[in-house]
Amino acid sequence: MFSKTLVLLGALGLVSAQSFTNQNMTQFSPSNKTLACGQTHSDTEYVVALQATIWSGGSLCNKTINISNGKGLSTNATVVDEFFTGNAEDLELAPSLFRFLTGPGVDVPNVDSFLADWSWVN
Ligand SMILES: *[C@@H]1O[C@H](CO)[C@@H](O)[C@H](O)[C@H]1NC(C)=O
Ligand SMILES: *[C@@H]1O[C@H](CO)[C@@H](O)[C@H](O)[C@H]1NC(C)=O
Ligand SMILES: *[C@@H]1O[C@H](CO)[C@@H](O)[C@H](O)[C@H]1NC(C)=O
Ligand SMILES: *[C@@H]1O[C@H](CO)[C@@H](O)[C@H](O)[C@H]1NC(C)=O
Ligand SMILES: *[C@@H]1O[C@H](CO)[C@@H](O)[C@H](O)[C@H]1NC(C)=O
Repeated sequence: MFSKTLVLLGALGLVSAQSFTNQNMTQFSPSNKTLACGQTHSDTEYVVALQATIWSGGSLCNKTINISNGKGLSTNATVVDEFFTGNAEDLELAPSLFRFLTGPGVDVPNVDSFLADWSWVN
């Protein structure tokens, strides 16, 4: 049973214990378009895009991840889109989520990226 579960998770490329450290977070605007997962979302939702390498043909759509900025701020976010630049475990964050995780006192217009840790929640 246990090994079958591991095999299944391995086949899905989704091991729930998997987490990623110091990955590059940038912004994207989800608003006013149908995203790769087939839904629309606003800039104020806590939604993310995955890099093409780990996109897995859309099978990770609607999965929840936990993103931590390494400075005491973390939140759940939902996978809704795909992007093609950067590295496999980088994320693109919707504007309100990016604003939240940069933390108070940071002048966001001057920040194009920051490093964060993330993991699969479900
Ligand atoms: C993160 O992405 C931004 C925007 O593409 C880039 O300018 C920056 O060099 C990247 N940082 C790292 C550490 O990869
Ligand atoms: C998205 O569309 C709404 C309604 O048409 C508009 O008010 C808003 O400015 C648009 N947002 C962006 C980022 O283009
Ligand atoms: C993602 O969730 C939305 C809203 O609950 C749902 O309509 C959509 O079918 C889901 N997409 C996938 C690929 O599961
Ligand atoms: C995200 O994960 C970190 C590290 O395990 C944990 O401390 C934090 O409470 C989690 N955040 C949420 C919103 O679940
Ligand atoms: C994060 O998502 C997990 C799984 O859905 C849930 O159990 C947990 O309560 C969520 N944390 C927050 C702070 O919403």
